[in-house]
Amino acid sequence: MWEESLHTVGTEPSSVSDDEYRARQSRLFSQLRPNDLLIITAPHESTRSNDVHYTYRTSSEMMYLCGWNDPESVFCAFNEDGEWKTVLFVQSKDVLKEIWEGRRPGVEGAVKDWPVDIAHPHENLSEILSDMLVKCSRVFVKLGVDSDVDSIVEKEMKTNSRAKQKLGTGPDSIVDPSSQINELRLRKSSAEIELMRHSAKIASQAHIQAMANTRPGVGEWQLEGIIEGVFKYCRSSGTAYPCIIGSGDNATVLHYNVNDDICEDGEILLIDAGCEYNGYASDITRSWPVNGKFTDAQAEIYQIVLDSQLAAIDECRVGNPYDAPHLAARRVLAEGLIKLGVISQSLDEAISTDGELNNWYMHNTGHWLGLDVHDVGVYRPNGEPRVLEEGMVLTVEPGLYFGAWRPDVDCPERYANIGIRIEDDVLVTKDGPDVLSSDCPKTIANIEAIVGSA
Ligand code: GLY
Ligand code: MN
Ligand code: MN
Repeated sequence: MWEESLHTVGTEPSSVSDDEYRARQSRLFSQLRPNDLLIITAPHESTRSNDVHYTYRTSSEMMYLCGWNDPESVFCAFNEDGEWKTVLFVQSKDVLKEIWEGRRPGVEGAVKDWPVDIAHPHENLSEILSDMLVKCSRVFVKLGVDSDVDSIVEKEMKTNSRAKQKLGTGPDSIVDPSSQINELRLRKSSAEIELMRHSAKIASQAHIQAMANTRPGVGEWQLEGIIEGVFKYCRSSGTAYPCIIGSGDNATVLHYNVNDDICEDGEILLIDAGCEYNGYASDITRSWPVNGKFTDAQAEIYQIVLDSQLAAIDECRVGNPYDAPHLAARRVLAEGLIKLGVISQSLDEAISTDGELNNWYMHNTGHWLGLDVHDVGVYRPNGEPRVLEEGMVLTVEPGLYFGAWRPDVDCPERYANIGIRIEDDVLVTKDGPDVLSSDCPKTIANIEAIVGSA
């Protein structure tokens, strides 16, 4: 099983090159002034319990600008004589710690193998960063991520408000660099696209293996084990978000992730699972019958969701507003439910802000995807919908959820506890939508051919 997955995902793409990191840095620096200081923070390690830490994952900003993924690190950039210099504070070499926790590149390794000009030991952060702060006028830093950096910046802001009066130098404003970085991250390079395609290929194989191993009586947690096993076997770092594996009424809970129920004969199973490969997330949802054959009622709902998803994907085109897929999906979902007699309103009423469609479809049709599963980037710059451009990646994930347990709606008996979502990862190209997760089957016939086949 595992080997098949590995072969199907193909060869691993190259990581982001140093040249590309340097180009990203330059694009950001071109928006700064010579007296600005840029500080990129990353979270501290966090404790799971007692002596055990969560697996470390740096901030996406750190990953985007230099790819460094160790704790106790800070990336800075300052301008000297018209040239931008990058600085990375890193954990020092320490044999005893390395014996216990793993090898460290240290200061020398950082400069040699990462796209930075200068490296310093993290223990010198306070002294060196304070010095840099004295020389700048604006500090670009996201506060609230690294408490060490926060207190150094706060201290220098206070001290320098006095020193500035005497010397005329020192920081006078703090600016969050996120909006500039987020804008860059919104458009993916070809290297990023290949990493995202690989991430989606791995996630597609994980879904296929889960489909093949689904039969009445299987535990949601067992399918979670298969999915996470494929993720790891294919050398992703693991899940990009907790797997959602819900059978029967659990499929009607949007972010259900307890995953501890038995999948029963006659139920629909909904799996929303994606991995992180070289920092990049995939995000795929498929829904299938536990016993391998859709009932007529399940097929009716499934086909409406699939038709709405295809209509939405077709709207992922250069020049369209970002919400064109959402509007298209809502329209097809409402038309379908009107035909089935679930909605008694007209189409316009059904899709209006407080129309009946909201009873059964209560979320948006997608979001940006990248280093974060809900990736960064403003959806409505200056209040207007963002226009899609080449290189943007978004998910397309319409669904219908008939939770018979809900006290707020009168669930049609025929569709009781059917929850269907179909989610793909779509790259906007000049030639139209490119579905990065296209390896993952989604027609009724293809799904029925795979479910239970292992
Ligand atoms: N996996 C979470 C989402 O689809 O947004
Ligand atoms: Mn999603
Ligand atoms: Mn998802």
